[in-house]
Amino acid sequence: MKVEFFRHDLTQDDIERVSGVLRSTFLTTGPVTERFEKDFSRYTGLAHVVGLNSCTAALHLSLLALGIGPGDEVITTPMTFIATATAIMHAGAKPVFIDVEKDSGLMDVSKIEAAITARTKAIIPVHLYGSMVDMRGLRKIAERFHLKVIEDAAHCIEGTRDGYRPGQLSDAVCYSFYATKNMTCGEGGAVATEDSDLAQAVRCLRLHGMSKDAATRYKGKYQHWDMARLGWKYNMHDISAALLIGQIPRLDKNLQHRQTICRLYDKELSKIESIQIPQSKGISARHLYTIWVDPEKRDRLLHGLHAKGIGVAVNYRAVHTLSFFRKAFSYKAHDFPNAYNIGRRTLSLPLYPQLSKSQINYVIESVKSILSEKRITH
Ligand SMILES: Cc1ncc(COP(=O)(O)O)c(C=O)c1O
Repeated sequence: MKVEFFRHDLTQDDIERVSGVLRSTFLTTGPVTERFEKDFSRYTGLAHVVGLNSCTAALHLSLLALGIGPGDEVITTPMTFIATATAIMHAGAKPVFIDVEKDSGLMDVSKIEAAITARTKAIIPVHLYGSMVDMRGLRKIAERFHLKVIEDAAHCIEGTRDGYRPGQLSDAVCYSFYATKNMTCGEGGAVATEDSDLAQAVRCLRLHGMSKDAATRYKGKYQHWDMARLGWKYNMHDISAALLIGQIPRLDKNLQHRQTICRLYDKELSKIESIQIPQSKGISARHLYTIWVDPEKRDRLLHGLHAKGIGVAVNYRAVHTLSFFRKAFSYKAHDFPNAYNIGRRTLSLPLYPQLSKSQINYVIESVKSILSEKRITH
């Protein structure tokens, strides 16, 4: 049996919508992107959405739009994808890691205050696997120290915690529509915010800092444009937007499917002694089903599942342990012991709505059989 790590759920209607754009003359950022931004704004409940070509771009431009740059420090977590930290560096600032909670892998909000210096300007919490960080606690600290908050919600379009959704307790929230995300166009991202000035700044920065995009320049009579500030080339185009629009109404139903799958995994895998299931907080968006396995067994399980035709991933080895970060900031593995230990034990299993009962059972039985194999030592 083959069980891919991820399968998208694009439909004939989604493909038709893309064909419609391809048959039109306008392929770049235009009316379809605008429609996506409106629809996604309605889904998130946030007033402004700006479509971009990645979440990395969303993080980078949110930082720039909030005036964060060289000499500034941004507090974040080492238990994330590298882009959270590299976006801070792209903005010219320094990522300052704090450790994560032992039971969830989420940023430990109680550690923020000790990491604040005179240079600290912002905090980037990451809603790992789909569970939200304690945003109420984080917001209180941010207000007390006048810090900006940008949420990395690459894993969490649908989640809530304490009655709040991503973006309700922060300056901006960044989403990813990368190939394996809950909603995807292969490569894509967005910033959502209640702050119209911030949205306007991101809109300008996503296209070279130009005062008018192509759709506006050619609408009716030609209009000259100006360059207001140094920008980037991060705009979402209408082909991507066309692929996303039809997925928005399916988000909640797909979450329910993933919740059912997670319950089946939880029930069986929690019985295995060498596996720890990370605690989810609030209503998780259930982006990844990640287990933590005894470190000496993790790679055996990873390779064993792969050999059985099951797609797996490692989300993530702690960022501060990667060569670049060790060299750039002289980090040692044990500087953030919880993140380090989680990173050594992490393994993500297939999770998407189309997984069949028999595929789920095959994954569970394969995990059990690989972990119960006796190792032959010479
Ligand atoms: C937590 C997290 N942040 C940021 C990113 C970057 O997203 P993108 O690939 O859309 O730039 C990812 C992508 O995997 C992610 O998982």
